[in-house]
Amino acid sequence: MPIMSAIESAVCRSAAWRSFARRGVLPWALDGHALHGDVLEVGGGSGAMAAGVARANPEVQLTVTDVDDAMVESARTRLAAHRNVTVQAADVTALPFDSGTFDAVTSFLMLHHVVDWRAAVAEVKRVLKPGGAFIGYDLTDTRLAHWVHRADGSPHRILAPEELKHALRADGFTGITVSTAFCAHLMRFYACSPAAKS
Ligand SMILES: C[S@@+](CC[C@H](N)C(=O)[O-])C[C@H]1O[C@@H](n2cnc3c(N)ncnc32)[C@H](O)[C@@H]1O
Repeated sequence: MPIMSAIESAVCRSAAWRSFARRGVLPWALDGHALHGDVLEVGGGSGAMAAGVARANPEVQLTVTDVDDAMVESARTRLAAHRNVTVQAADVTALPFDSGTFDAVTSFLMLHHVVDWRAAVAEVKRVLKPGGAFIGYDLTDTRLAHWVHRADGSPHRILAPEELKHALRADGFTGITVSTAFCAHLMRFYACSPAAKS
């Protein structure tokens, strides 16, 4: 089920985006947070960020998901050379994984496409192991972001940083940081699922 406009889909699959995503966006988005163990990427698109994660962290087992079958196919092709990656279709609001499966969940520039983003955040929390991390970045609710998405006609629900922070807190995440960048057009976030009590 395609969610993005034809233009956005084309950009997401372009060689230019893949190169920029891996070299420039990924290090900024991860903000020095190390990935280990089982990692899930939601809304992974054509696998641009996943390729960087897989290459930099060969010991990580990375599961890349997307709701759009065309994106899943594209990511499967692009990531086929990485033995530590599996790609499958999945809607972030109803993830087909057991609770407590992943050490980290990454979400890069995808939450604003999920109209029911609260369900997405709850699902991320459910599939994280105790102590697991939710890491990512997204657009913020600027006029420009609203204008672009209204113009291209794709379903969207662009979040204010405070909204995301409140939702993460309400869902029980701890250690939450949500910080804006690039004239507040983007926000980077990090949150932890509380560690199990011993
Ligand atoms: C702007 S693209 C970003 C792709 C990738 N994360 C990147 O940084 O290159 C957003 C992606 O989110 C996916 N998406 C939108 N809604 C989704 C949902 N409910 N569940 C899973 N993926 C979704 C879209 O199909 C699209 O591939």
